[in-house]
Order: sequence, then C-alpha cells, then structure tokens
Amino acid sequence: MKALLCKTLGMPDQMVVEEIPDPVPGPGQVLVEMKAAGVNFPDALVIQGKYQFKPPLPFSPGSELAGVVVAMGEGVKGVKLGQHVICSCQYGAFAQKVIVDGRQLIPMPPGMPFDVAASFTLTYGTSYHGIKGRANLKAGETMLVLGAAGGVGLAAIQIGKALGARVIAAASTPEKLAVCKENGADDLINYSTEDMRERLKELTGGKGPDVIYDPVGGEYAEPAFRSIAWGGRYLVIGFANGDIPALPFNLPLLKGASIMGVFWGEFVKRQLPDFIKDLPEMFGLISKDKLRPHISGRYPLEQGAQALQDLLDRKVTGKVVITNGEAAEVSAGKTAPTHKPASDAQAEVKADTPMKPGDMAALVGKEIGLSSWITLDQERINEFARCTQDEQWIHVDVERAAKEGPFGTTVAHAFLSLSMIPVTMYELLGGKVQVQASLNYGLDKVRFMSPVKSGKRVRNRVKLLAIEGKGMGRWLVTTENTFEIEGESKPAIVAVNLGYLIE
Ligand SMILES: NC(=O)c1ccc[n+]([C@@H]2O[C@H](COP(=O)([O-])OP(=O)(O)OC[C@H]3O[C@@H](n4cnc5c(N)ncnc54)[C@H](OP(=O)(O)O)[C@@H]3O)[C@@H](O)[C@H]2O)c1
Repeated sequence: MKALLCKTLGMPDQMVVEEIPDPVPGPGQVLVEMKAAGVNFPDALVIQGKYQFKPPLPFSPGSELAGVVVAMGEGVKGVKLGQHVICSCQYGAFAQKVIVDGRQLIPMPPGMPFDVAASFTLTYGTSYHGIKGRANLKAGETMLVLGAAGGVGLAAIQIGKALGARVIAAASTPEKLAVCKENGADDLINYSTEDMRERLKELTGGKGPDVIYDPVGGEYAEPAFRSIAWGGRYLVIGFANGDIPALPFNLPLLKGASIMGVFWGEFVKRQLPDFIKDLPEMFGLISKDKLRPHISGRYPLEQGAQALQDLLDRKVTGKVVITNGEAAEVSAGKTAPTHKPASDAQAEVKADTPMKPGDMAALVGKEIGLSSWITLDQERINEFARCTQDEQWIHVDVERAAKEGPFGTTVAHAFLSLSMIPVTMYELLGGKVQVQASLNYGLDKVRFMSPVKSGKRVRNRVKLLAIEGKGMGRWLVTTENTFEIEGESKPAIVAVNLGYLIE
C-alpha cells in the first residue's frame, strides 16, 4: 500500500509517499481502507516534533479518517467486513490502509459521504464539547470566535448558531470573513485591520461577549479576554499563532470570568460516555442541515504534503481532506474541490444547479452520475431472500455454498442489484432536479453479466437515454444502469430502466 511518510522531523515538503507492506491487524484491531482523511492543525505540528506526543520515525501523520473495514484481528466485536466507519487514531491516517482500535470505530450514518465523515469528528467534536459541555452556551448569549474561518472555528460558528446564540466571527482577511458569513456568523471583525476591542464594544453595546472561543492564542488572546462580559467563559482551544499567551491573573477576577481548557482527545479517553452522548446530538444537527462541514479542498494521497503546507500557510478555510480512490466515491461533491483528480466521474447533474425535468433533455446520451458503493453483504442478501421468498441455498446457505457452490461463497440474487436502482437514482437526482415524486416503472432490457459474491460492493453508473414529456408534469425517463463490481472489470448487470418524474 501507499503511505505518506514522515521520515525526518521537519516541514511538509520533507515527507515522501512510499510503497510499504500492508499492516496486519492484531487482537482487537481492525484494518480500514482509508477513503478520506481529515487534515488537522496538530498533524502539521506532529511532523515538526512540536506536538504533545512524538511518534517513532518513520510514521504517517493523520488522526481521523473514514473508510471501509477490510480485515479484523481476533476478538473484535460488533464490526463487519465491508462496513463504512469513522475512525480516530493518534497518527497513521494518511495511508491507504490504517490499523485502528476496534472499540473506537463509529458506524457512518447512512448517506454520509466519506469526505464529510472524515472531517467531522475532531473539529465538531472539539467545538461541541467546548461550547456545550464546557462553556454551556445558552440561546441569546453572544459568542466571539477567533480564527473563525479555520477547521474548528467554522464548526464553532455553526454550533453557536444551532444553539441559538449570536456569533461574532473574527479572522484575518475579507475572503475568510465572507466564508464565516456564509456559515452563519452574525457579525464580523477583521482582526488584522480593525481594533478588536473597539469593535467588540460597538457590537455588544459595551457588554462584551459571554463566551470566547480561541483556537489562535498569541497576540489576540489578551485583548479578547479584556473584552469579555461579566461572568464570561473563555475557551482555550489551541495556539495556531504559535505563541502561548500569558494572562494577568487579575483579569478573570475583575470580570468574574472563567478560563476553560478544552482538550478533546483527553475528553474522549477519560469521559467516553459523555462523548458517546454528544455524537447522536451532532449527527442529528447534521441531518437537519444545521451543521454542514465546509470542505474547501480535496487532495489525493500523493499531494498530502501540500494539504499540510496550505494549512500552515493560512490558505485554508474550513476543512481539507486527503483522499484515496475516485473522488466521486469519496466526495460530498457540494463544494468545489481544489485538487480534484482528473479521473472524477462526469456527473452532469449538480446539487447547486437544480433543474426542471425538461432541462434534462440536454443530458440525453450522457452519463449523469455514479452512485456510492453499496455492499451486498449476507445480511442484505438474506433480507432480499426473505422478502422475495427466494431462499435458494446458493444465496443463503453460507456453509454449503463454500463447499459445493461454483463461486466458493454465496452470491447475491441477480435482481438484488437492480432493486438498488431507485436508491441510486435518488442519490444522483434527489434535490438536484425539481420533482415532487418519482416512481420506478419497470425494466426494458436486462443483461446479467457476472455474479456478485456475498460481501462485494457494487455501484450504479447511470446514463440518460431519453426523457419524454407525458403531459400534466409527468416525464418518462429512460436510463441505462451499469452495476459495476468493485475490483472487477466486467459489470454485474447492464439494465435499461423506465421511471417517471412528476413535477
Ligand atoms: N483543544 C483541542 O482539543 C483541539 C482540537 C482540535 C484543534 N485544536 C487546535 O486548534 C487550533 C486550530 O486548529 P484548526 O484545525 O482549526 O486549524 P486551521 O484550520 O488551520 O485554523 C486555524 C486558524 O488560525 C488562524 N491563525 C492565526 N495565526 C496563524 C498561524 N500563524 N498559522 C496558522 N493559522 C493561524 C488562521 O486564521 P486567520 O488567518 O483568519 O487568522 C486559521 O484559519 C490548532 O492550534 C489546533 O492544534 C485543539
């Protein structure tokens, strides 16, 4: 496998991408094929030997990833091969395969793209723990966020707004402040050109912010603290500026204010049940679109060092991720990737340009998208067999299929992949074409080309063959659906499908 390696401590350009042997999971460990790994400020510190822990050389940096379980050591419970998971590790995520502790896997919520899953846990986990768990920010209070366009900063803005607070975002350029505004900030301060204390006085009528979220430190910390409201809470998140500020002790006394340290990694280790309680709350806010990870760049593994350099150069807004595999498979695709591999799918239907069904005529003859991978595991095969009352041993009897079956394993029913057409069409068109409803009408031609062994992953490559207005806002859509099997050149099925879109 390929890995981005730090062989000597130093800046990102000293790192190399090398072929190394696949790691083998030990007892309790899981091997995960990385699809996307979130890039965080500590990664840039670890490679310089400037972080709290110092891994032995050589090592791959990277502490959060999303991917697919490909192997397991003895004694791992509650994890399945092929499962999509979110993982945290101290380091090692910037590699094609990563060993993680089987107890620390989080199942990916259905429908969440890998890049979002990989860039969520650390930044939103830190900000949620800090703002809700430590500062107990209340609706109607005011929060100042420093370094607000960065990874944890943007997460803090969105969380502050989701909790009903007023959020003042502070950052160093008009472009970064524009991103803060797009992400919900109520008021903006450019701390490289404006007097932060004066602006805070103006914006809060002299009262000051109730909560200050500070991932930057350095020269901004003291003026910010001097502006805090009576009874305020100052969250010490990090020191991106490089300097650890020193504060006169009389200041918290004069304001009746608290300085609160936030250390997410230790929080997860020491207060796991509290973290586990935070997770569904955060996933709930994502599903309601109140939290939306902002991914400003996707870098293939080979360009991972550049991702770290851009972070250090303050060029990044929100999160950047390192990817492994085709971008379409990995990506939310809602924000423009800055380092998109040329092999990206030719998806013509875009989320940011919702079209009327009639407009799709321009796409006839073109590929309109490639769905995410879907695992046809034994559980899904059994479910299909139960629903269709088609319980043939070649599909459901694992032991007999291993001994007597022509493929050495059970295989999915030929129609199981086809039953995924509505799901994949919804993924490709949902929210992107203005329709009230859609229905699958039936198949025109089908060619079954290769069996799909149990546990294999398939995805649907969809080409638009025709779209025809049938009056009263009804459109007959004909598509060619090619179900590809992961790692195989011959597809499972090519089927022409008819469906109706209703405006
Ligand atoms: N406590 C925890 O548990 C925890 C968890 C995660 C991260 N952190 C810490 O939080 C900090 C921010 O992390 P992040 O992932 O959000 O990083 P990030 O995306 O790079 O954001 C950091 C922001 O800090 C500002 N900044 C000011 N001086 C800087 C400098 N000299 N170099 C780089 N950035 C500078 C930049 O905004 P402007 O250009 O607008 O000033 C930048 O957007 C880091 O120190 C990190 O270690 C702590």
